[in-house]
Amino acid sequence: MTRAGFYSLLLLLFPVTAALYLAAAAENYSRSDFPADFVFGSGTGAYQYEGAAFEDGRAPSIWDTFAHSGHVNGVTGDVACDGYHKYKDDVKLMSDTGLEAFRISLSWSRLIPNGRGPVNPLGLQYYNKLIDDLISHGIQPHVTLHHLDLPQALESEYGGWLNRKIVKDFTAYADVCFREFGDRVSFWTTVNEANIFATGGYSEGLIAPGRCSPSIRTGCFGNSSTEPYIVGHNILLAHSATWKLYRKKYKATQKGYVGFSIYTWGMVPYSNAKEDIIATQRLKDFIIGWLIDPLIFGDYPEIVKRRAKGRIPALTKYESKQTKGSFDFIGLNFYMVFSVEDDRSLPDFDKWNFWTDVGVKIFNIDSGNTPPDQLPVMPWGLSTLLEYIKQVYGNPPIYIHENGQSLKRNGTLNDTPRVEYLRGYIGGMLDAIRNGSNTKGYFAWSFLDCLELDGYEHSFGLYYVDLDDAELKRYQKLSAIWYSNFLKGSNAISEVGENVFVSLK
Ligand SMILES: *[C@@H]1O[C@H](CO)[C@@H](O)[C@H](O)[C@H]1NC(C)=O
Ligand SMILES: *[C@@H]1O[C@H](CO)[C@@H](O)[C@H](O)[C@H]1NC(C)=O
Ligand SMILES: *[C@@H]1O[C@H](CO)[C@@H](O)[C@H](O)[C@H]1NC(C)=O
Ligand SMILES: *[C@@H]1O[C@H](CO)[C@@H](O)[C@H](O)[C@H]1NC(C)=O
Repeated sequence: MTRAGFYSLLLLLFPVTAALYLAAAAENYSRSDFPADFVFGSGTGAYQYEGAAFEDGRAPSIWDTFAHSGHVNGVTGDVACDGYHKYKDDVKLMSDTGLEAFRISLSWSRLIPNGRGPVNPLGLQYYNKLIDDLISHGIQPHVTLHHLDLPQALESEYGGWLNRKIVKDFTAYADVCFREFGDRVSFWTTVNEANIFATGGYSEGLIAPGRCSPSIRTGCFGNSSTEPYIVGHNILLAHSATWKLYRKKYKATQKGYVGFSIYTWGMVPYSNAKEDIIATQRLKDFIIGWLIDPLIFGDYPEIVKRRAKGRIPALTKYESKQTKGSFDFIGLNFYMVFSVEDDRSLPDFDKWNFWTDVGVKIFNIDSGNTPPDQLPVMPWGLSTLLEYIKQVYGNPPIYIHENGQSLKRNGTLNDTPRVEYLRGYIGGMLDAIRNGSNTKGYFAWSFLDCLELDGYEHSFGLYYVDLDDAELKRYQKLSAIWYSNFLKGSNAISEVGENVFVSLK
């Protein structure tokens, strides 16, 4: 039997299961409980989605290089979900699902292959068509400029984000994007999960450009105790210069918003011991405060400056002034809650890194019996985090830029753990909004099963992508139906109809 035939057979056999499941899943909230201007969407990143890595003038990014050196479990984004060719069908699918907004990132090295200089007309054409298509389907584009994918040319030429030259090149790239797309795009994010890019890429070397001290991992080059801070510093400067450019040159006519993005967790003390309570606050200061304090207060947190003394660049008076207040919103990527224990053990000097500065041990909290390969569902973790940001940072506008459940990619279309996850966390977010949090949007990660940081083994998609099919056919999962029903304001079983949901294997 062909694979398609196999699916059709399963479709015939199993619709009842899905119907029963959804019937039992009445919500205690609905779309209409959220503020009128709140947006719900989903998203993806350029390297993870587009494919066409060598087509139409695109040059490699640091993520291409990292993947081609075998560091992403031996796979690459050369083809990924082939969004470069399939975006039209995907936008149709988004529209059918009822998405109000979609979060994309632009591949800098597709638009400006050398990182600076000539703009690639075919790159412009692709993003113009994608953006137009989203808008013509009533879907608001939210655009990220840097999603872990600096042009390799700039990495090779001067060390990329380690070099202050990046500020000028990033701003020039942003200028091109505002000029070309800003008539239709109102929501811009400069750097996606900047803190994880700086630590993952320069302290642990687990994501591109894969730098760390040689003692941390064999074959690694870099300095885990200095580079994350230098990169974080340059990101802040590039971000604030970009925000300022938008203010001066585009805001009056385009009336859009430029924000920043970090990766966060829920963080709770491991015990009632004073050390663990202090350690939890320290982790918050390193994970949230490190790059957010400068935007709100104009300086790094005291504890970060003290622990990374002599290694973290100081924000000069001028830089502090330029950084403070330079954002219109903050994007948060949120997936889980950690329990935090104080850790005073001192590593060897040459093993010093960002995490030894933090000085904590972290544990995934499990509500009891979350199966391996799944993330526990703890909505209070998100409410508490949003409450913290409201109270400590003066309630800035927040977008949840990523939140979603990881499952084995080849599992099942009947992804009930993902439904439970989305239902739980959207509810947790609503609790915070009802208590005054200025959260303005939510983007379920991710729309399709595309490339993840660890390859194609686990995925977060609302839609499954069959990588064995030459056409990379998309299949709707239960989570897509649940989200769609939620967005369309209905849980009614009659709206689910004869649906899909079945085991893939
Ligand atoms: C990292 O840089 C610091 C400060 O320059 C230096 O003391 C340390 O030896 C360097 N570590 C490594 C592993 O290169
Ligand atoms: C929905 O119900 C859950 C569990 O019963 C509860 O924890 C949550 O606070 C409720 N959320 C809303 C928004 O009413
Ligand atoms: C709700 O907000 C108030 C005022 O900011 C705060 O004091 C209170 O702790 C919040 N409640 C929860 C459950 O977070
Ligand atoms: C997923 O299933 C396909 C088809 O059976 C197989 O080719 C592929 O290797 C599997 N991938 C993983 C990560 O298990």
